[in-house]
Order: sequence, then structure tokens, then C-alpha cells
Amino acid sequence: MAKEKTLFFCKECGFETSKWQGQCPGCHAWNVLVEAPAAPKGSPFGGRKKPDAGLAQNKPTKINKVEMREESRKPTGMPEFDRVLGGGIVPGSLVLVGGDPGIGKSTLLLQMCRLLAQAGEKVLYVSGEESASQIKMRAERIGTFTDELFLFPETGMSAIMQAVDEVKPAVVIIDSIQTMYDENTDAAPGSVTQVREITGILLHLAKMQGPAIFIVGHVTKEGNVAGPRMLEHMVDTVLYFEGDKTAMYRMLRGVKNRFGPTNEIGVFEMRNQGLVEVPDPSAYMMQGRPENEAGSVVVCTMEGTRPFLIEVQALVCQTTFPVPRRTAVGTDYNRVNLLMAVLEKRLGIRMADCDAYVNVAGGMRVMEPALDIALVAALLSSYHGRSMDSHTILFGEVGLVGEVRAVSQAERRVAESVKTGYTTCILPQTNKISIEKAGNVDISGVRLIGVKHIRELLEYI
Ligand code: TYD
Ligand code: MG
Repeated sequence: MAKEKTLFFCKECGFETSKWQGQCPGCHAWNVLVEAPAAPKGSPFGGRKKPDAGLAQNKPTKINKVEMREESRKPTGMPEFDRVLGGGIVPGSLVLVGGDPGIGKSTLLLQMCRLLAQAGEKVLYVSGEESASQIKMRAERIGTFTDELFLFPETGMSAIMQAVDEVKPAVVIIDSIQTMYDENTDAAPGSVTQVREITGILLHLAKMQGPAIFIVGHVTKEGNVAGPRMLEHMVDTVLYFEGDKTAMYRMLRGVKNRFGPTNEIGVFEMRNQGLVEVPDPSAYMMQGRPENEAGSVVVCTMEGTRPFLIEVQALVCQTTFPVPRRTAVGTDYNRVNLLMAVLEKRLGIRMADCDAYVNVAGGMRVMEPALDIALVAALLSSYHGRSMDSHTILFGEVGLVGEVRAVSQAERRVAESVKTGYTTCILPQTNKISIEKAGNVDISGVRLIGVKHIRELLEYI
């Protein structure tokens, strides 16, 4: 009997090869090739007859003759969600929602379904993880639902396709891709082959019949959606739902979007009755901030086009260890070490025998260079035991010579500081000059202090 043909797939990038290798030739990651049956003929439709309705009429068309249907974006009813999607749900789009287990993906999507159903859209919620009554239990906490929402606990693709045919929903939720399987594909649910086949089927379904499809994907240890990158390039939009499980707030981040801006984020808070939107995150993050304490400063960072005020804390103290301890929570550890070396060399501050603990408060992760100056200020403030004026905000990148360099979107950062009631803003000198020249931000209520070198910071601490 002929041996069944198997191939090796890269778990990271989906690269195929007939021989096992330690390193993936595609993405050069180690130990990522797994064996799986080769996809059956006729893939990605798993040997099933290709659903070619509509395909036959598709012909090459001149670009100026193509009609655009922009009117059709559907608002989700949650402005924070719409912002990340780029203004609403695009019919026929395929959206991947990734995130750690238990972060709130199912809750978020169920709430979206509830609002869509209330707006009169038919919605089909397919769950391979929970039974209908379990979903109902969650739904009870969220609120009342209308009859436009259909629950379907199922994992087989043919039953799901049939249900989509019968219900004709405008939006379909697949929760989660790792639990679904296609009967025509001989591989375990959650395996690379299955995930790829199913995404192929869903892609075709979305493009041909027009429902928008949201796929939930769990994230692996490495931080990728399982069966990951190949899934990311097949879908139109990739959203990550993230946040510190111990902190109450969650962020929905767009990392890819064919129909809107990327890097936008929406902020939510997990409460007893589900997720609540946080329209003004700056005020939210500043809650309970200590005033006039050494080692605490406020920075204005950008996430996409959105400014955020965040508290940065540092604790510098004499070490009792042979090698001083350094930790960085919510930012890059190496960056903190580098900035401490800059302080040591350029300002002559002896930090080699100090422990340093740095924390971006509120559980956010900030990797932006504009954070640098705040890290420096917090370290200096803690080292000298002197506080910074609590109505002062900072932003700016710090170079190896100790120079303060310009950052992008300075106007927005200043505008956000003014809006939140800060009266002093320490920023790179070049940014200050360009803001004053452009004159498109109202700076009457705020004192702008341009700095060129971190030396100048000492005056304000
Ligand atoms: P869930 O949506 O099931 O996460 P995921 O689908 O991403 O795995 O979220 C589960 C968590 O949210 C769980 O720890 C309980 C919490 N939760 C609330 O705090 N309040 C609520 O109203 C709901 C529905 C869940
Ligand atoms: Mg879930």
C-alpha cells in the first residue's frame, strides 16, 4: 500500500519542506518544523467541490471602472472597537482576534454580537469551546439579547457552512480556530494543516457570500497566534487583545489592517458585567498617582495616533549584592541599562553600586523612544531623593551622548497634556521650536521647556 504522503511545516511561518530540519529555511527559527499530512488535492477546499458561485463572472476590470462600496461599513456600537477596525466592520472581511486565554476575547465578541443584533443585524456565534448554555450564562452577566443572535456550539466545518447558508448572517464569529476541524482534512484540530485549511475555507466564504468573519485565535507561548504567521497573512485584519491579567484594563491593538490604520488601540476595562469602554485612558491611567514623591514622573507616549499619559516610577538604592540588581517592568530592560550608563558617563552619577527598579505603572508596555527622558528623570529623581513638580510632563528620546532628540507627533502630545491639565511640558528643544513656529496647538495654558541635553533636567528635579 502506498505510504501516506507527509510534509514538514513550520509552526511560525508555514514554510513547507519534505525533509525535517532543525532550522526553518523560511524564517530561520529553530525547532519549529512539525510533521503533518500533505494537504489533499483541491486544497484549500479539502477535496470539497470548490464553491465557485460568483467566481465565474470575475474578470479583469479597469481600475477606474471598479465600483467602490464604502457606505457599507457597519459600526459595532462600541466606538473603541470601531476605532481599531478603522470605522466599523467591512462586509466580507476576515478578522483575526488573538490573545492569551482568559483575557476576554469571547466576552468582547459576544458583547459586539449583542450590539449588532440590537441594531438588527443577523449574527451567528459559533463556539467550539463552550456549550450553548455556558455561553448563555456569560450572556446573562452582560445583559439582554435580541433574537437576531444565533448561538451554535459546533466544531465541524460542514455543519458550520450549512448553518451560514441557512441563517445568512451578516457577521459570523468562530471561537476558536484551534477547536475547529474540516472533515476532509486528515489532521488534528489546532494543527498547522487544519488551521490553514479552515482559514482558506472561511476566506472563501467571506469573499463570496459577504459575511464578515471574526476568528478567535489563542496565542502560543512564543506570543504568536498558534499556526501563526501564515494565518496573519491570509486575513484582512489582525487584532490582539492584550493586557495584564492582574490589571483591570485591556487593550485591543490593531497590528494589521487592510481597511484602516494599524497600531490604533482601543481601551476596555473588565468589570463584573463584562467589558466597559474607557474613552479617556489618560485620566484613567493617572488615577491614584502619588503627588510630589521622588522617583515618579509622567510621560506622554503615543499608541498609533493616540496619546497616553503614563506614570513612570524608579527606585534607586544602595545595593547589598555583589552585582547590583536591575529590573524593568513594562519597558525594555536593556534600554534602562543603557540610560543608566549614559547617566553615569555624562552626568558623572555613580550608579554602578546602586540597585535600580523601573516600572511603567498600570501594566502598560511602552517601547517608544519618547519614554527615554522620563526614565532618566525618574532615575535622577529617585537617586537624589527629590521630586519633580507634579504638574510637569515629559517626552523625548535620549541619545548616547546624553542629547535629547526630537520625537514624532509632538503637537499631539502637548495638546493631550494641556487637555489633561498639566501646566509644564519638558520636551526636546527642536520639537519646541517647531511647535511654536507652526502655532497650531493652543499652548497658552502650558509652559514649554525645550531641553537639548539631560544635564538640563537637573534644574527641574
Ligand atoms: P473570556 O472572554 O472567556 O476569555 P477568552 O475568550 O479570551 O479566553 O474571559 C474570561 C475572563 O473574564 C474570566 O477570567 C472572567 C472574566 N469576566 C469578568 O470579569 N466579567 C464578565 O462579565 C465576564 C463575562 C468575564
Ligand atoms: Mg474564549
